[in-house]
Amino acid sequence: MDLKSVRYSVENKVGTITIARPEAMNALNKQVLTDLRVLLHELDQKREVRACILTGEGEKAFVAGADIKEMEGLSPAQAREMAVQGQALMQKIEDLPFPVIAAVNGFALGGGLELALACDFMLASNKAKWGLPEVTLGLIPGYGGTQRLSRNLGRALARRVALSGEMFSAQQGYEWGLFTQLCEPADLMPAARKLAGVLATRAPMAMAWVKEAINHGSDRTQAEGLKLESDLFGRTFETKDHLEGIKAFVEKRPADFQGH
Ligand code: HXC
Repeated sequence: MDLKSVRYSVENKVGTITIARPEAMNALNKQVLTDLRVLLHELDQKREVRACILTGEGEKAFVAGADIKEMEGLSPAQAREMAVQGQALMQKIEDLPFPVIAAVNGFALGGGLELALACDFMLASNKAKWGLPEVTLGLIPGYGGTQRLSRNLGRALARRVALSGEMFSAQQGYEWGLFTQLCEPADLMPAARKLAGVLATRAPMAMAWVKEAINHGSDRTQAEGLKLESDLFGRTFETKDHLEGIKAFVEKRPADFQGH
């Protein structure tokens, strides 16, 4: 894989993706988006990881948004296409069959927050700042922010964030339930690795189906969501891992899941 602005490593079935453009606050330019597309495709195909961490290089920024300089001069059609392409990338992250943890190490603004919103967990440094400042630029969020933030926080808080364009503290994000954990900056990656390590011991297919049931079921009626849940519950009984999980419980030992 020839990645230019993104780094990737894997250890003990946990992948770490680092967006590496610290000179521009890790803003999502075309190169970063291309690198992410290539990498995510590869991760989805290879299935070598059971959990993944996504973070930004340096101490200042997770991702400070889409690259504002690259947006200058776009036609309305090009801008729409940019949003469509970016949304597809965020959707790809949401749909990955393993959990993704956003380790929000600094500014998560605009497209950066939208990237984190596509992940399954957001852990944050207590120095992080976040928001949807698009309205300060005459724009609106275009990588899913209006949809995922209102689903995560409810419409009232999503309006508060997206209409004001203000920056919020990590503590505020934690109180509203956006971040599941706050850490000292130096403790953020260890905390993300610890969580990823726990996830890596869980049954991979069961985790994929939990994601599917939550992400796809909660947009349907409750009856439809429950149908999806019971269908997927039934499918777990097609796996060898459910036999191992139940056997390990009876034998009072940790389960050793193989992912099938
Ligand atoms: C391009 C960016 C950038 C961005 C920062 N930089 N954010 N470049 N796109 N989103 C660059 C700066 O231009 C500067 O480069 C360098 O990074 C350091 O940034 P400073 O502003 O000097 O740092 P600081 O004063 O610490 O302020 C940090 C900041 C600020 C608060 C994060 O940079 C900022 O407000 N950035 C923009 C945030 C934003 O509006 N994001 C939403 C974008 S719209 P130079 O070369 O000058 O040193 C969006 C839409 C998504 O995301 C949907 C699209 C379809």
